[in-house]
Order: sequence, then structure tokens, then C-alpha cells
Amino acid sequence: MNETTNSNFESDVYYPSQNTIDEAHCKDYESMYKESIRNPEAFWGKIAAEFYWSKIWDKVIDDSNPPFYKWFTGGKTNIVFNAVDRHLKTWRRNKLALIWESEDGEVRTYSYFALNREIVKFANILKSMGVERGDIVTIYMPRIPELVFAMLACAKIGAAHSVVYGGFSVEALAERIEDAESKVLVTADGGFMRGKLINLKEIADEAISRQGTIEHVVVIKRTGQEIHMENGRDYWYHDLIKLPVVNQSCETESLDSEEMLFILYTSGTTGRPKGIVHTHGGYMVYTATTLKYVFDLKDEDRYWCAADPGWITGHSYIVYGPLLNGATSFMYEGAPNYPYPNRWWKMIENYGITILYTAPTAIRGLMRFGNAWPNRHDLSSLRMLGSVGEPINPEAWKWYYNTIGQERCPIMDTWWQTETGGFMITPLPVTPLKPGSATLPFFGIEVDVVDTDGNPVQNGEEGILVVKKPWPSMLRTIYKDPERYKTQYWNRFGTMYEAGDSARKDKDGYIWVIGRLDDVIKVSGYRLGTAEIESALVSHSAVAEAAAIGLPHEVKGNTIHAYVLLKAGQTPSEQLAEALRHHVGHEIGPIAKPEKINFVEVLPKTRSGKIMRRLLKARALGLPEGDKSTLEE
Ligand code: WTA
Repeated sequence: MNETTNSNFESDVYYPSQNTIDEAHCKDYESMYKESIRNPEAFWGKIAAEFYWSKIWDKVIDDSNPPFYKWFTGGKTNIVFNAVDRHLKTWRRNKLALIWESEDGEVRTYSYFALNREIVKFANILKSMGVERGDIVTIYMPRIPELVFAMLACAKIGAAHSVVYGGFSVEALAERIEDAESKVLVTADGGFMRGKLINLKEIADEAISRQGTIEHVVVIKRTGQEIHMENGRDYWYHDLIKLPVVNQSCETESLDSEEMLFILYTSGTTGRPKGIVHTHGGYMVYTATTLKYVFDLKDEDRYWCAADPGWITGHSYIVYGPLLNGATSFMYEGAPNYPYPNRWWKMIENYGITILYTAPTAIRGLMRFGNAWPNRHDLSSLRMLGSVGEPINPEAWKWYYNTIGQERCPIMDTWWQTETGGFMITPLPVTPLKPGSATLPFFGIEVDVVDTDGNPVQNGEEGILVVKKPWPSMLRTIYKDPERYKTQYWNRFGTMYEAGDSARKDKDGYIWVIGRLDDVIKVSGYRLGTAEIESALVSHSAVAEAAAIGLPHEVKGNTIHAYVLLKAGQTPSEQLAEALRHHVGHEIGPIAKPEKINFVEVLPKTRSGKIMRRLLKARALGLPEGDKSTLEE
């Protein structure tokens, strides 16, 4: 909750215990950080050398064409060599890679050996459907193990994946498939959410009918509900795995370091989502290293990142980061409070989870149910906690620290983005913590808080958060739109990456992220663009114009409020408001549904015709309206 986040700016400090320091991979942040900044090539080169490369790179950082930076150029590898294949040659072959629990309590486990078998099968299926190196496969799935297999299968054969979050709906899916020009879609008959069936396949069918690229659909049976299967286009996964070709071996392709691993669409300022491009080499090195040092990952750990694999947090820290470290990763299909608010705590006890990484919205949601639910469970296995997605308000931080971590577990408040690929500003286990601050930059990362001219602001003053040097897992471009990549992130400050967030820095150099500066709203940690919501509203036949804003919400952080101008002849009503909310849910997804629809006669605009969302927000919150000189009368 942005309003309260920094209220106790520079207040309490929580120091790590001696035990935490003794155990930590890095005991001296400052000297390792200095080293990484003094000589980044040597620093990253040394770390990268711990991975398997079929050919060693010529250059660690290629900055000959900024802002199109490249890493480990001339090198050849595949993230799957390092996330799966190399573990098969060690004792980790029989270690659990993935433990999965479904919402109704079914458990499935996969050793690295078993994981590899599933990936090989999936890879052979994709190949038999004509998927080739460089193609983009769209994956639209519930939170089930096959989602992970499909991602890794793509990477293995050199295809890129584009995972579309299973909570998205028709238009969101259609425009992502279209932009990626995917010929193959991997989906499921449906999913479960709080015991309810979600009709994923029906949504997929409608999305496919809105665009023309999909030739084949692989369908996983998850719910068993009746669905439409289009002859010659749709194939059941459980039928495909019976094909002889599926049981053949499958080589992991050796790829150029800079070949595309995935695109992940994310919301920006304009209506069209941006396809953020990540590549094999740099992303591999950075996600593995950040996870190792920040959560102090060890072979004995049972690590749980409670995000959805369909968002960057899941890509980097459910799938790739843990597997690259040979870790055991836990994944849970459903809602945190299903069927009761002790679900998470019960699973932590059952599986002996040692690291929990989640979002402030989930913490606040569970905090509401009180201490009795967690207190009924043995949470003593936990040793590290994490937070991501939005600033964590100190109240939630303290509850997480005291009640869940029992004052024993440091909280890693990690600031990063889809674009950054991995943690950027984050404590290490040895870092003294201040509730509400993401603390200090990770190795190799130089950040600052600047004014609109790019000059550093005074300590304690609000400014624009920038990253001053390239890093291995940075986005390479926006898919098919390099111009937009340049203008979006590099136009204002030239050589400094503009993250789109505002922040403050305190006297100890700690960064306090405040929130987005652009028209991006974080709802329950999910990133949505006002423009997408507005265009969904306007696509309804009754709507002439619409504006969407985010207003603070106790649990979700923000919720969407929409202002709607109806077409002539339409009358405002409760039913119409409900129909509009439903329409947005159908087009984008339930998370994008406005909490409230306000029918208005006029929208405040600038003389150049831009909606002044800032003014709508100030009015809704009863705050001063600020500068209105550009307002059209
Ligand atoms: C916000 C999620 C404060 C921020 C990994 C950023 C945070 C956006 C934090 C990226 C944090 C993420 N403290 N704010 N620890 N982590 N954010 O792309 O506004 O979904 O720009 O990536 O989330 O959201 P995205």
C-alpha cells in the first residue's frame, strides 16, 4: 500500500543473527559488491565459468551498440544443459526437482531424472508438430507440472516460450498469440480455483478464432470436463505421448548465448502489451546467482516460491533459478486460503519448507485471518522469507517476520521487474533490514534516484529510480519493436535504464521504492496497464470513453476504479456496471475487473486530449488537485 509504505522511513533496523551469518554463502556483502562494480567482466566471467558452455564466450559484455547490450557473446550453451542435464550426471539425478500439490491435495513429485524424462517427451511432441529452433510456442496453462515441462521442452529444442498467465482471458491471450505469431499453443482442458472449474480451453478457442496463426493445440487433461476438440488442430497430450517418436531420445540444442529463451508480455503505458525478450546465457547466469546468494540456497533446502509460473517471478524463481541451483522446488496449484486459511502453513509443516517467497498482497490477505491459523502449525523448518511485487508495508512486514518467521527468518524484500529478469535491489541474509525497504543493490548493479534531468536527488527526497550499468539478465529488446525498447527505457537518461518507479534513498544508501510513475497499476502484485483496461471497456458497445485508475486497497495494494462515459442513448444502471465489469473480466481476466464503475458526463482531459488520470485519482482520494494549467475547460 503505497500511502503507508514509507511512513516509518529510516526507522527500526533488524540485524541478522550470528547463525544466519555463519551459514550464508556471502558473509561480506560490501567487499564482494565493490569487486563486482570495480571489474564486472572479471566478476561475471568467473561466475559464468561455473556453468556448462559448449563453447566459451569471446566477450563477457558487448556494449558496442547501446542500449542493445549483449552478454557472453560468442559463447554457446542452453539453459537446459545447466538446469537439468548436468544434474543427471551427479547424485542429484535422484534428488527431487519438483514437488507439486494440487488444490484438492493430490501430490506429485519429480526427481531430476523424472523431470528430464517429461521434458524429453514434451520436446519430441513439439518437434513432431513442426516446432523449430527460433519459433515461439504460446503456453496457456493452470499451475500444474506440465507447464514447467512445456517451458523447459521449448528451451531444450531452441524454441522460445511465451507463457500467458492462466488468469488472463480471451483478448489478452489473442493479442499475445498474434504478436508472437505462434503456430503451436499448449493449454489444458481447464483448471481449478477455489474448487471452481476454469474453462481454459473455451477461452483458448475463442482467442484462436480472433487471430489466425495457431495450427496445432496440445491439450493437457487436468479437470476432465467436456470440451470442444477441433479435428486436425487439437490433440490430447495423453494421446500424443503414445506416439513412438515421443520415446526417442532428444538432444539439448547448443545455442548462441544471445538466442531467445522466452518472451513474456507485460503491461506498459500504451494499450499493447510489450513482449519482453530474455536470452539463454545472461539470464541463466544471473537468475541462478541471485537466487543462490539472496536466499542462501543450499542442497538441503525445500524452497517454495508461491507465485504463478506465468509471471516473471515464476519463470525466474520457480522454474529456472531453482533448477539451475539443483534445488528442490515446491509448487502449489491453488488459492492460499483454500479450503481454510491454514492451507499454506499446513503445507510448510508437511513438506518442511525452508524458504518461502511470496508477495505482500498474500501476506496481508493471510494476516487478516489472525495468528491462530499459523500458530497451529510447526513452522520451525522455515529459515528465510521473501517478498516481491510491490512495496511491503511495515505492518505486514512485521507480521511476516514475527508470526511466520518467528523472529528467526530474515525477510528478503526483492525489487525487480519482468524487464530485469532477476533481483536488482535486495538484501542478502547478512544485510541489516529495515521494514519497507528493499535495501541495497545486488552484485554488479548500480542504481540511483535522480530528478528529471538525471541528477541524483538529496537523500530522503523522492525521485526516479534508474539503473546505471547493464546487467546479465536485462531485457534485450521488446519483441518486434526495438524502437519502443529505446524510447520506453532509455530515452530520458541516455545510458541509464529507467525502471518506471519512484523511490527514495536514505543516508545508509538504502532504497525505498514508492511505486510506479507511469500508468501501470499493481493489483494484488499483478501488473496491469490502465490503457488495456480502458480499451477493454471501450470495446463494449455501450461505452464511448473510459479512464481507469488505481486506488489504494488494504489487501490488494491497489484496485481498479473506472470512469465511463456512455454512448448517446445509453443509461447508467447497476446492471450495466455489472455487465461492464464482466466484459473486462472476459476480455483481459478476472484480476482486471474494476472494483467500481463510475458513470460520468465528462472526463478531465488536457488540451491535447489526454485523460488526466492524476486528477481523477486526486479527486477520488480527496487530495489537492495539483497543477491544472493543462486542463481543458
Ligand atoms: C514493483 C515483478 C517495491 C515495481 C517481479 C516494479 C516492487 C514492478 C517490488 C515490476 C518490491 C516489484 N518493492 N516494488 N520489492 N518488486 N515491485 O514486472 O513497481 O510484474 O516496477 O515484476 O513491481 O512488476 P513485474
